[in-house]
Amino acid sequence: MLKALTRDRLVSEMKQGWKYAAAVGLMAVSFGAAQAQDADDALIQRGAYVARLSDCVACHTALHGQPFAGGLEIKSPIGTIYSTNITPDPKYGIGNYTLEDFTKAIRKGIRKDGATVYPAMPYPEFARLSDDDIKAMYAFFMHGVKPVALQNKQPDISWPMNMRWPLAIWRAMFVPTVTPGLDKSISDPEVARGEYLVNGPGHCGECHTPRGMAMQVKGYTAKDGNAYLSGGAPIDNWIAPSLRSNSDTGLGRWSEDDIAEFLKSGRIDHSAVFGGMADVVAYSTQHWTDDDLHATAKYLKSMPAVPEGKNLGQDDGKATALLEAGGKGDAGAEVYLHNCAICHMNDGTGVNRMFPPLAGNPVVITDNATSMANIVTFGGILPPTNTAPSAVAMPGFRDHLSDQQIADVVNFMRKSWGNQAPGTLSASDIRKLRTSGTAVSTAGWNVSSKGWMAYMPQPYGEGWTFSPQTHTGVDQAQ
Ligand code: HEC
Ligand code: HEC
Ligand code: HEC
Repeated sequence: MLKALTRDRLVSEMKQGWKYAAAVGLMAVSFGAAQAQDADDALIQRGAYVARLSDCVACHTALHGQPFAGGLEIKSPIGTIYSTNITPDPKYGIGNYTLEDFTKAIRKGIRKDGATVYPAMPYPEFARLSDDDIKAMYAFFMHGVKPVALQNKQPDISWPMNMRWPLAIWRAMFVPTVTPGLDKSISDPEVARGEYLVNGPGHCGECHTPRGMAMQVKGYTAKDGNAYLSGGAPIDNWIAPSLRSNSDTGLGRWSEDDIAEFLKSGRIDHSAVFGGMADVVAYSTQHWTDDDLHATAKYLKSMPAVPEGKNLGQDDGKATALLEAGGKGDAGAEVYLHNCAICHMNDGTGVNRMFPPLAGNPVVITDNATSMANIVTFGGILPPTNTAPSAVAMPGFRDHLSDQQIADVVNFMRKSWGNQAPGTLSASDIRKLRTSGTAVSTAGWNVSSKGWMAYMPQPYGEGWTFSPQTHTGVDQAQ
């Protein structure tokens, strides 16, 4: 009895023990799985952040389209190309890409089928992405993005220009071989992180660096000389101004906090974002961590100024006095007084965080007047951001002012309140911009030339647009 009891107990205890062991084992297994799940989630989240840094969503999403399903139109003089579906759909997207395929597409612009993509995809910069960042991003695209069964649109380019092999030659000639990850020669870790963000994922130079004869970006890092980040040619008729430390046309008068705040909220006391940069802020930089924004700002401020003309002098008060007296006798001043002064003020100082100042604004005094002419003609929307949720609009004046009046008011602003921008716009410049979207040509202006590109209307030749459909204020992608 005792024995039996003991044996029964033993058996039962053994059974309990098994259960216990099994439970512990199960727990251990599920605990391990949970840990693995957490690790995967963390990796996917990191990848989502790298995709934010790289702004994949802005290019790979059509207007009103599904995130990452492609179809954004990019026009060129030889035809139209479309961004592709990079959701994990196995048939239409990149669901069949291995990590290796993905890495090759990101760093070299080579698709799984071996063809080279158009350099509208900024792979020359993405080549800097570290192995860890690419791995995380791969996890995000495979597991964190909803697959969308949407077929890619074929480029609308006819033979022989539609052949892709010349693109591989272009790559071999113009895309430098780079070492992925941080630049080890930079000793300050914050500056090194900033350099990585600007020149790698952020691909800021695609717009802010001028291009050479073959449309290649003239310099991918500060080591490549003065052209690097010294201001780009018009893209979609917006000019990305210099990010070097010049005090007139560059960021010389911006503090590190100004830069970080501009990238986060799209507005600071003396500037407001618009054009192509509005998409960058809305889809990418407003989501960057404060540490990354400050690292970016610190890196940009660490770069020296480059020699340029003087486009800014002291405000002698004459323009303000002329406006206060009714602007009589100066066609540009009259237009300004009746259409612009209510928001931008007689002294051109605007209203903090609402209406940007025009006095001393790099956008106004930069060598090429295309952005200026464009925003006055077509208007602009200051996008709402998480930290500055109100959307403020600059009205377009194409239905209210004649070509001559727009030219007059742009010329007036570029020469008032201390502004000393070069060149004079004519009514025909505005007519071309209005009717065929042609950027203002600075040929014949005595500008401190950044080389050939300063004179070319568009970085890829006339007729290019890059992302004609600004998403900002329209869609909530990613
Ligand atoms: C400035 C616009 C732009 C940005 C930013 C951009 N891409 Fe692209 N990408 C393109 C275009 C345009 C193509 C198609 C080019 C072509 O058809 O030759 C492309 C092609 C690709 C391809 C090849 C697709 C295929 O169908 O085989 C992949 C993969 C890709 N991009 C991934 C990414 C990822 C990931 C990011 C963010 C890290 C990114 N892209 C950011 C414009 C962009
Ligand atoms: C798609 C093209 C494009 C890309 C990519 C781009 N920018 Fe811009 N950026 C512009 C344009 C156009 C402007 C002028 C409009 C404005 O001031 O908002 C501008 C303006 C700016 C300004 C304000 C300069 C001034 O003097 O008013 C800063 C700062 C800036 N960009 C930083 C960056 C940084 C940092 C990156 C990379 C993370 C970047 N941009 C990427 C197009 C671009
Ligand atoms: C209702 C107020 C309002 C009026 C009127 C107005 N603007 Fe603006 N303007 C704005 C706002 C808001 C922005 C910022 C838009 C953005 O960032 O997209 C702006 C931006 C600009 C810019 C770009 C500067 C920069 O750094 O963002 C220029 C140049 C400009 N306006 C010129 C003019 C001219 C010239 C007129 C008259 C013909 C005019 N504006 C009338 C509100 C106004």
